[in-house]
Amino acid sequence: MEIFHIAAECYPVAKVGGLGDVVGSLPKYQNKAGHLVRVVIPQYETKFIIENQFDTVFSGVVQLGNFNFPFTIKKESTAILEFELYVVQIPELFDRKDVYGYEDDIERFVAFQMATLDWISSRNNVPDIIHCHDHHTGLIPFMMQYAAKYEKLRTVSTVITIHNAIYQGQFGFDKLYYLPEFDLSKVTVLEWDNRINSLATAIKCASVVTTVSPNFLNEINNFGYGLESLFNMVRHKSKGILNGIDTQVWNPEKDKMVVANYTMRTVDKGKQANKEQLCSQFNLDPTKPLFSFIGRLLEEKGADLLSHAAALALSENYKEINILILGSGNTEIENQLSHLLASFQGNYNVFIGYDEELAHLIYAGSDFLLMPSRVEPCGLNQMYAFRYGTIPIVRRTGGLKDTVIDIGDNGNGICHDQASIVDVCYSIRRAVDLYKDKKSFKNVRKIGMNMDHSWERVCQEYIDLYNLTTN
Ligand code: GLC
Repeated sequence: MEIFHIAAECYPVAKVGGLGDVVGSLPKYQNKAGHLVRVVIPQYETKFIIENQFDTVFSGVVQLGNFNFPFTIKKESTAILEFELYVVQIPELFDRKDVYGYEDDIERFVAFQMATLDWISSRNNVPDIIHCHDHHTGLIPFMMQYAAKYEKLRTVSTVITIHNAIYQGQFGFDKLYYLPEFDLSKVTVLEWDNRINSLATAIKCASVVTTVSPNFLNEINNFGYGLESLFNMVRHKSKGILNGIDTQVWNPEKDKMVVANYTMRTVDKGKQANKEQLCSQFNLDPTKPLFSFIGRLLEEKGADLLSHAAALALSENYKEINILILGSGNTEIENQLSHLLASFQGNYNVFIGYDEELAHLIYAGSDFLLMPSRVEPCGLNQMYAFRYGTIPIVRRTGGLKDTVIDIGDNGNGICHDQASIVDVCYSIRRAVDLYKDKKSFKNVRKIGMNMDHSWERVCQEYIDLYNLTTN
């Protein structure tokens, strides 16, 4: 099959969160399974892009009303990614440091989607599947179906995968004229709650809607961020498919970003070596269990609970535990976490920022990983943690509920139900008890390490779904 994935992020070229990891790994494994897979993302100002490693394949001009944006589409030519990567270069809109967060994000992503379709519809062959990810690509199924310009793509099957339903790409009808000419009798298809809603439009128009875990699909039928009734209407074409992980990138046996590699047999020694490195780097105590958090510092991830829970847990278990946090996001949360430094020196530290290499070292050197998420459509960190013999402590929500089973049920992690300081602290206390009971601790760790969340196993689920829609 010929498959196009279209998204805002793709690891290692552009990654903000888990979306980047998925778009940088699922295609690789679909490719290995014998399909022809192409990924299209915008070209940001990134170190990864070295001009002479890209060949121009198409150029044109996107028109948003009276504004013209020249663009070029380039193909990555080094083949190091193990799938075909295409970047859409629209200098005026995308040649910036960050992926998101600009006032003109709507203009940026509408232009990106149109440039991408201009190119795909200009090719001789039409692909079998156009797979869109999140709201940044949500208008594509609509434009393919109703815009005269893209008529050629009308019969191509489309998939929208929802990695995050909080952000929906809404804008007013005053910007309707940005879209290419389309059958105006279909204008209501764009509408949800009196605005143009990119995600809702994708859910209405795509041949198939997927969420990144089965449990998240159940949840959004009840708590769907204003889209509940829509999700209920499309149940017949929806499926929850649990994400996989790239077990080549996340492999404690071969990982070059850690100081000591290890297997299930050598995990004690290997983990201790990585922990010692981390502890010397962050002034922590290598003889005590290490609890870490890695991720975006957002309420969505329960990160606002961390500073309070850390303060309480560190006072309660004074000098019995270490807590280390890596992430960036909400400034207030960043400040709260930094303020704790003065009170708990030697047992607490925080690194504000994004550092892929450090993340690998933290998975390898930690005993427990905190994920008190309020919302977690899938969650990849708990799966990375399992690989590295790090026991996740999670709130039972979204994909966390699908992947982490509490030790009380002979499971692989520690679970709590509320996104509250008390629940997080109670789980930390249970973790400290588990850590002291070495036999049980090692057993729980082993259950996690034995799990197989590889894309090799999972990617067939998408192929089966594609087959259903194209037949
Ligand atoms: C988003 C979600 C996360 C999911 C990831 C990849 O970042 O918040 O739960 O794992 O996308 O699908």
